[in-house]
Order: sequence, then C-alpha cells, then structure tokens
Amino acid sequence: MSLHPPILIAETDVVAVPVRLVGPDAALEGHVGTWAAANAFTGKAGQMLLVPGHDGALSEVLFGTGKTFDPKSMRGLAAKLPGGVYRLEGLAEADGAAAALAFLLGGYRFDRYKTRDGGEAARLVAPPGVDVEETLRIAAACALAREMVDTPAADMGPLQIETIAREIAESVGASIAVIEGDALLDENYPAVHAVGRAATTQRAPRVIEIGWNLTRTDLPLVALVGKGVVFDTGGLDLKSAAGMRNMKKDMGGAAHALALGRLVMQAGLGVRLVVLVAAVENAVSADAFRPGDVLSSRKGLTIEIGNTDAEGRLILADVLTRAGEHSPDLTLDFATLTGAARVALGPDLPPLYTDDEALAADLLSASATVGDPLWRMPLWAGYKPSIDSEIADVRNDSAAWAQGGSITAALFLQKFAPATGAWAHMDIFAWNSRNRPGWPEGGEAQAMRACYEMLKRRYPV
Ligand code: BES
Ligand code: MN
Ligand code: ZN
Repeated sequence: MSLHPPILIAETDVVAVPVRLVGPDAALEGHVGTWAAANAFTGKAGQMLLVPGHDGALSEVLFGTGKTFDPKSMRGLAAKLPGGVYRLEGLAEADGAAAALAFLLGGYRFDRYKTRDGGEAARLVAPPGVDVEETLRIAAACALAREMVDTPAADMGPLQIETIAREIAESVGASIAVIEGDALLDENYPAVHAVGRAATTQRAPRVIEIGWNLTRTDLPLVALVGKGVVFDTGGLDLKSAAGMRNMKKDMGGAAHALALGRLVMQAGLGVRLVVLVAAVENAVSADAFRPGDVLSSRKGLTIEIGNTDAEGRLILADVLTRAGEHSPDLTLDFATLTGAARVALGPDLPPLYTDDEALAADLLSASATVGDPLWRMPLWAGYKPSIDSEIADVRNDSAAWAQGGSITAALFLQKFAPATGAWAHMDIFAWNSRNRPGWPEGGEAQAMRACYEMLKRRYPV
C-alpha cells in the first residue's frame, strides 16, 4: 500500500511561511490588522486567513485558536493551506508533537482512483522538540488503516489484506502464517470457514497470523486481533441497500490491528507481538451459512446462528481463541462490530469494553493525552442470558433483545477471550461520516493512537 509523501520536515534553514496562532484577544497591528478586520478574521478556532505582503506574495497565515488552542484543529489547517512550506509560530512547546501529528493526519487524501490537479502539498517544518520519525510513523499507521478502509471491496479482498500483512511482516523481519480456504477446516477455524465459504475461490477466507520477537520470553506478549470482513452483505439475512452501502469498511478492525502492529514493531516496543486477522467476505451464495445453522468453533463451543449478519463475532471467536493459545499478557481486539455502538455513542466515540480496571484506566488516560477518544461501556453480566441458545452453547444474535446490541456483542466475544492476561475490545466505526476540512468523509483510524500510547507507556523500547 503506497504511503503518502512525508509532509513533515525536520527543522532546517528552509524558507517557510509562518503560520501565526492567533486567539480572539490578540491585537493585530498595521496592515495585518487592517486585512484581518476587512476579512472578519476574529481568531475563532479553526479560522484561517492568508495574508499577502506588499508585493502580493503570501507573507504569513493567521490561524485562529479560539480561547484555548486544541492541537487537533491543525487537521483543518493542513486541509486548507495552499501548497508550500510552513512553520508554526506562537505554539507552546508542549503542543508541538500533537500539532505536527494532527497536521499530518489532516493532510491525508484517498487518491487511489481520483485524478487531482496535482498541486503541491502543504508541508510543515517540525516544531522544536518534535520526534519527526516517530510522528511520521504514527501518521503512516493511521494512513494505512484509512487507505485500507477507503479501498473498495473489489480491490481490498482477503488476498489483498494478506499481501499487506506479508509486506508488513517482511519489512520488520516478523514471521507470518496464512491459513486459507478449506485448510481452515483442517486447522480448526470452523467459524471463520463457515462465514467466508460463500465467497469465490479467489476471495477465499483466511486467518493471518504475524509473530514478532517470540523468542524473547522475558518480554510480555501482546496480541492484536482484527475483524476483517472485506464486504458485509449481511449474508442470507441480507442488509438493506442503505445498510450495505459502506460495508467495504467492515475490514476496519483488521486494518487497525495490522497498522498498529506495524507501528509497535517499527518502534521496537518491549513486547512479543502476535497480530491475528480473520479476513473473509460475508457473501451470498448457495454455499452460504444459514440462519438456524449451528456452527462449531475453535474453542469447541457450538454457536446457533440467529442472524447471518452478526458475522463479525463468529470469526473473532476463532481468532480470539487462537490468541489465547499464546497465553498473552494483553489482548486488544478491533472490530466494526455493531450498528448499535453508533446508536449508543455516535460515529466518533468508540466503545471500549474490558473487565480489567488497570487496563481501562491506562487506555482512557492515554486516550485523553493523545486526543483519540474512547468511552468505556459495561460488560454487563445481567445481559448474559441474551446470548443463550436453546439448542447450542451460545447464539450469535441476541434473540428478542433489540437493545444494547454493542454490549451483547461484547459479551459474546468475552466467552472466547483469552483466559490469561487482560482483554479489551473496541467496537470502532473506522469512518468519518461528515465531510469536514481535515476529516474527509471516509476511512478513519480510531482508538489506534490511544492503544499505541498505552502500549508505549507500559512497554517502552
Ligand atoms: N458490520 C456490521 C456492523 C456495522 C453496521 C458497523 C453499520 C458499522 C456500521 C455487523 O456485522 C452487523 O451487521 N451487525 C448487526 C448485528 C445484528 C444482526 C445482531 C447490527 O449491528 O445490526
Ligand atoms: Mn454483519
Ligand atoms: Zn460486519
């Protein structure tokens, strides 16, 4: 997957147009003040004004901070600036890294298919004290996840996810194993096979497992697990047209696990790492699994299918079980698992589920630091009966329970989560549904920077 050109450059003597951060109380003098007044520039958050010099060339840019500056607003700046090289003026040193990263995230464009006029990108001279390499690495991880999500299902099938995983493994010297098609039955991934078997041979289901540093048994083992449904038609319980429209993004969990895994390995954090992805297409064919079927699972629990559209938890069941075979100290899973998560918290706030208090605290504090929101939701034991089945060990939809769907899905996963260590599940949207400067409609990395910050604090290089 191509990376976007680096638009953060190390401090040099390069000529850069200053971007002055301006609050509502700033007194702007001389011709700049006159120009600002003429353009109704008041310094409110996110406002931008290009200021010409006496020769008509761009001499500086004013950027409104509002009363308190939020580094996140730099995403909007990056999206609005004309091509050129810029430096930030009036930025507190403590905000440097967050501002630079936000600038990079705001510069993301999905241009795989679109012919653009080819204008030069806006580039930023790194503010003082910023670790350019680390910032670029984090931005590249977010871009990878977004680009995978943005790529249509026709060009982002199970094979393409495997190819990206192989590229990642090779680039950092990790091992990789892929189990594909009917071999999933021999290797005991029955639920992954059942969900993916309706797809054509070329788009056969697979389990992808990357291993890194595994001989370092002195280090804690972290497992990253992702839902990789390359397209979710709903299966025989077919989705509506509106419900299906954006289901190319249903591999967002896999994209997050792979991109975060790459980041952890590139940074060389002090862990053993396993990245596990189940990549399948939830398709419709004569061979599709059916409502009422009873599947077996890697763990041995039988699963009654109440709804073929609740497929994510089925494939995750098998790969979570697999993660447990490594006796992990920590397991994080990412999945575009339920529409109910959106009903509960909207598009921008992913629910976090864990019964480990220390992990919840560490994740939420990291999340607040890096401005990558998460909201803890309960693994409410009172709802456990919602996934009871009359004829099997568990069922994949919550029967007559129309509400609390994100919680009941998390309770299903909990049955398959590793017995060792802590486990957290994030029900992500992986998508910006509103088009705003810096947040273009389309793929979005969610919870990944928070998880990375937590891992960095717990398991430093
Ligand atoms: N991939 C969807 C969940 C989804 C839908 C995420 C829309 C983001 C936006 C998932 O596989 C699904 O269809 N879940 C069902 C579960 C239900 C059938 C129990 C849902 O949420 O409606
Ligand atoms: Mn579904
Ligand atoms: Zn799905």
